[in-house]
Amino acid sequence: MVASPLAGSVRGPRLSLGPATFVDKEVLVERIGVVGCGLMGSGIAEVAARAGGQVIVVEQDFKSLERGRERVDRSLSRAVASGKLAEDVAERTHANLTFTLELDALEDRELVIEAVAEDEATKLAVFATLDRVVRDADALLATNTSSIPIIKLAMATRRPEQVIGMHFFNPVPVLKLVELISSLLTSAESTAKARAYATDTLGKTVITSPDRAGFVVNALLIPYLLSAIRMLESGFASAEDIDTGMVVGCAHPMGPLALTDLIGLDTTLAVAESLYEEFKESHLAPPPLLSRMTQAGLLGRKSGQGFYSYRS
Ligand code: 3HC
Repeated sequence: MVASPLAGSVRGPRLSLGPATFVDKEVLVERIGVVGCGLMGSGIAEVAARAGGQVIVVEQDFKSLERGRERVDRSLSRAVASGKLAEDVAERTHANLTFTLELDALEDRELVIEAVAEDEATKLAVFATLDRVVRDADALLATNTSSIPIIKLAMATRRPEQVIGMHFFNPVPVLKLVELISSLLTSAESTAKARAYATDTLGKTVITSPDRAGFVVNALLIPYLLSAIRMLESGFASAEDIDTGMVVGCAHPMGPLALTDLIGLDTTLAVAESLYEEFKESHLAPPPLLSRMTQAGLLGRKSGQGFYSYRS
């Protein structure tokens, strides 16, 4: 294999994501920051640490930080319990993770992946701060946004050529896909570096998407989820029948309403709104039931109640 010109040097043994062993491999990026430790941020932090990176995770308050840390703990324990991860590897993964409330802690990072709530103002503020804090002019500033144009976030910085979309899928430790989204100003070098990190270091499969609302996967997935919610809202079919239909009839791993609960109703709503804003097609407009449930805090698994209850 020809070494990538972007690769750094290997300093000691690294972790592989698959088999529970240390392996020697090219380390493209060693110092990683993850901003936000919710459903996606915790998964991204976990896979980055499992792959041998030194990961600093930043949250905005202590409660969210503890919840994120517990999520990573549970996920690693589950992987150990199912025999997919050796205990010592899980321990080293823990050792690779540092949790903090200070964005300033990211000053020496080579790659920062932003995964805060899907709110444009919040993400813009994070990128403006990262631009100020991260010293390395070559550092890659990535976003896991599923709905906000990459170029908008890039323009909050003075280095738009370093800003790129790296869109992971939930649960991140299980699903292999990363969508790579370059804006009109992302440099070819940044794109190559992000691709190499996702594939060579994290072992993910990469597809590329233009900087358009929904990218590839959500542009297909969200209209399907919205259709299921409309079916339920109109009384066409019950939640159980809709989901059973797609699981048993089409061999999907879960039905659309259970999947909306997994993604989070707030996130589904945010993506639907951005798709509707971009394309103005009526089938992309969020159904009122989705808006009302989100306003009521019925966000799915993360709140304990969505289309189904998770309280027990
Ligand atoms: N962390 C680590 N491992 C996990 C996990 C987690 N959070 N959740 C599940 N797993 C592992 C389990 O350990 C298990 O491994 P094993 O088979 O080796 O024992 C395996 O995944 C299957 O898990 P379970 O047996 O508990 O449950 P299921 O077989 O029902 O699978 C599921 C659960 C993986 C969530 C599966 O139902 C699935 O893939 N669903 C579809 C998820 C999906 O479509 N996600 C994409 C959402 S879109 C998105 O994220 C983009 C955003 O922008 C909207």
